[in-house]
Amino acid sequence: MKFFIETIGCQMNVNDSDKITDYLLISGLEQTNDMPEADLVILNTCSVRFSAEHKAYSFLGRIGEQKEKNPNLIVGIVGCMAQYAHKEIKRRCKFVDFVLGAKEIDKFADAVSKFINTEYVISAKRQVGVFQYVTIMRGCQNFCSYCIVPYVRGPEISIGVDEILNEITGYAEQGVKEIILLGQNVNSYNYHGTNLTELSQKVSKIDGIKRIRFMTNHPKDFSDDLIDEIAVNDKICKHIHLPLQSASEAVLSRMNRKYTYENYKLLIDKIRNKIPKINITSDIIIGFPGETDKDFQNTLKASKDLKFGGLFIFKYSPRPNTKAYKFQDNVLLGTKKERHSILLDQSMDISKKLNEQYINRTEEVLVDAYVDGVCESRNSQNIKIFFNSDNNMTGQIVNVKINKAFANSMFGDMCEY
Ligand code: SAH
Ligand code: SF4
Ligand code: F3S
Repeated sequence: MKFFIETIGCQMNVNDSDKITDYLLISGLEQTNDMPEADLVILNTCSVRFSAEHKAYSFLGRIGEQKEKNPNLIVGIVGCMAQYAHKEIKRRCKFVDFVLGAKEIDKFADAVSKFINTEYVISAKRQVGVFQYVTIMRGCQNFCSYCIVPYVRGPEISIGVDEILNEITGYAEQGVKEIILLGQNVNSYNYHGTNLTELSQKVSKIDGIKRIRFMTNHPKDFSDDLIDEIAVNDKICKHIHLPLQSASEAVLSRMNRKYTYENYKLLIDKIRNKIPKINITSDIIIGFPGETDKDFQNTLKASKDLKFGGLFIFKYSPRPNTKAYKFQDNVLLGTKKERHSILLDQSMDISKKLNEQYINRTEEVLVDAYVDGVCESRNSQNIKIFFNSDNNMTGQIVNVKINKAFANSMFGDMCEY
């Protein structure tokens, strides 16, 4: 039997899909990247914006066509959209065999075993890559007013320290070099008194692990001891993704982000003072209800002042259940698009200028992949760096002298090693 899995959404979903893949492989199924070949299709869904749900329904349309050709096909829909829209999915897509929400993902084995026979095959393992996401906390209870995540993932739960360390040790033994500790707000990790700083110290002692990253940080919980740890711990990468969302105090307050722009700026100053080489990236929501042109100008100016190395910019999308759903979505789509493109242009300009400072510098990079004679790698700051090589250097750390810089990537030559 063959299975095909499609994942929409954030790293949480990627990580859940990894777990599902691991389970199906040890259950004797084979993975295929070609949907028409599959006997079982799993779609892992996201509901953070309307566009993510739209993507899921169009993919469901393709699965439906496939099921007409192959009536024996088993179809399972999992993830965040499956959590709150399960009735809607069943109503619109009668061909779906089972729907399992993100909160119930640990019941995947039960759900799938009603439809397929599984046999335990210990030797079948997922091919791990250079880096691996490791979930350290599930759920979120911050209730930012625009966000559906707390409703589809449930309250925050920190995973046990030993469980995390065992999982990472297993990956290290299989050759994983970089670990990305995942949570909606990793800064509030707390397992019986162990915080993120202590957890990172423990992870950095695991043999074979060369790099540690976090995803995602929340400004309201970023502690001084974590800043100090990032500064002194060579294994912790000098990149922080710290979503700002907006630089207008009024908008931040309506978003229920629980920090002011003033606080955010002080935090950034503190981080840059202690970790001069840090690259800070961020998320911005454009067109939140009531966002005035002045609010937007503040965000535009702040994004410049704060010198973000990269920005993910999202157009506000009203989500059912959330508090902001009751606010009037009164920023016109045209205005959202215009603000989006102005901010994106500025952000690309800034990233390019920041990256140009690397020209003629030698960067230590970890190679992720080798395609057509080109190594794809990242430095500690998480900037993509390409260089030519006769050898496949995947998984190795090498020095590269940078000779070209763009907004989203750089090019260089490998130094003798
Ligand atoms: N837990 C993370 C973010 C998870 S969602 C955090 O708090 O930073 C990833 C990003 O999607 C958010 O940072 C936000 O910028 C964006 N987002 C979330 N809900 C949204 C919505 N309803 N409309 C538009 N963007 C949204
Ligand atoms: Fe959503 Fe806010 Fe939780 Fe992030 S912290 S997942 S934006 S509610
Ligand atoms: Fe992630 Fe989307 Fe769920 S962003 S947590 S997959 S709603």
